[in-house]
Amino acid sequence: MKARIDAIIQRNQAEYLERLHPPSVGLIAEMEEYAAQHRVPIADREVALFLEITARAISARRVLEIGMAIGYSVIHLLQGMNDDGLVVTIEPSEEMIARAQDYFSRAGVGGRVRIERGKALDVIPGLDETFDLVYLDAVKEEYTDYLENCLPLLRIGGVVIADNVLWGGQVAGEIRSPDQTASTEALRLFNQHLIHHPQLRAEVLSFGDGIAYGVKIK
Ligand SMILES: C[S@@+](CC[C@H](N)C(=O)[O-])C[C@H]1O[C@@H](n2cnc3c(N)ncnc32)[C@H](O)[C@@H]1O
Repeated sequence: MKARIDAIIQRNQAEYLERLHPPSVGLIAEMEEYAAQHRVPIADREVALFLEITARAISARRVLEIGMAIGYSVIHLLQGMNDDGLVVTIEPSEEMIARAQDYFSRAGVGGRVRIERGKALDVIPGLDETFDLVYLDAVKEEYTDYLENCLPLLRIGGVVIADNVLWGGQVAGEIRSPDQTASTEALRLFNQHLIHHPQLRAEVLSFGDGIAYGVKIK
């Protein structure tokens, strides 16, 4: 969800892009409604669709997500994966987990999601598997550590995506919310780190709230 529709691109472009897709329906619409009412920060619609498209484009079979919330992005990722695909997702909030599990069972995808309870930096070192896609969407100050911890688990040719890397326009501009100073500064360092990373070819894409997108080359 966007704080401001024109935080990253011009308003007329943003409004055009919003109109381009048909409105969400069914369970996805219900999740968007729940998130808006309860102020749960789920991915923007176009970002969720981009995750689904990427999962499909690279034929992802195993995906690792850092930060699940109510499972909105998980359901989109699974829509881009075959029936034997698995999303492993890390989330510390029991309230979020309970809500997500209800949505997963109603979507009929409960058997294709493994929820790892806890904080990402505690959980990731215990993972011993290989992923095709890693999606970072939790504590912004920890993105660089997530990347470094997850890269050994990502296959060569696998994709890493991180959400919110332009952070409402603040990363490239002035910091409007003083309580987001640390997160904004961390994201500036993360973007530099990602773009110059020797194991990645990476780019920052200016849609949604800014998407970091990289492919592991070695
Ligand atoms: C932006 S939301 C995730 C949204 C979700 N990926 C989506 O697009 O639908 C961030 C989530 O990260 C969780 N979180 C907070 N600290 C975390 C940590 N240290 N490790 C993993 N997840 C964390 C929060 O509880 C929250 O549910």
